[in-house]
Amino acid sequence: MRSWTLLGAALAASLVLAFGAVSQEGAPVKIVPRLTGTADPMALDKVPALGRPIVDDVKRMRNYPEQPPVIPHSIDGYQLTLNTNRCMDCHKREFTEGSGAPMISVTHFQDRDGQVLSDVTPRRYFCTACHVQQTDVAPLVLNRFQDAKDIGRKP
Ligand code: HEC
Ligand code: HEC
Repeated sequence: MRSWTLLGAALAASLVLAFGAVSQEGAPVKIVPRLTGTADPMALDKVPALGRPIVDDVKRMRNYPEQPPVIPHSIDGYQLTLNTNRCMDCHKREFTEGSGAPMISVTHFQDRDGQVLSDVTPRRYFCTACHVQQTDVAPLVLNRFQDAKDIGRKP
């Protein structure tokens, strides 16, 4: 624990040096970029360019069993609207043999009562609410995520 406290102090000190985390009046000032836009809701902020998505077609390990797998291919221009679902052109059960795409899993056919439907349930229709691409950028906020297999008593 002690080493974390020291590390924390060192980190805080370096942040103060880097960003001047305490203002003239002594009030704390934000030290991470805001994720929610400008403080003035009507002001126009310069939006940074999006990172280039990773499209190498390599399946990524899931960080925990229930994680929606990330999308390893391009989805540029894929329409996902009330009338068209481009994702299902490949991921629908009937089309997977031709496309080579993994079928949406059985949970995607279940309505909220657990009833299994013959096609994707409305709850899972908008794929990108859960499945996202990855970009090769540094995280905005530090995190110390640990895989569950590395936590707890070792045999
Ligand atoms: C042209 C066919 C095609 C379309 C359209 C398509 N996919 Fe895929 N998808 C694939 C294939 C093939 C794979 C297997 C990995 C690869 O080759 O990229 C895949 C892999 C995936 C995976 C990874 C699955 C895993 O187990 O790791 C996800 C998630 C995914 N696609 C989601 C989507 C979403 C969301 C859309 C719509 C925005 C979409 N796909 C549109 C063909 C497609
Ligand atoms: C509400 C969140 C959610 C939505 C919406 C959603 N998925 Fe998923 N998806 C998941 C989760 C969670 C998993 C992993 C566990 C599971 O299979 O339920 C998954 C798994 C998958 C897999 C891997 C299947 C396998 O057997 O490896 C594919 C492919 C996939 N989804 C495609 C899609 C497509 C295409 C859509 C849109 C039609 C979609 N998903 C919509 C959450 C979602």
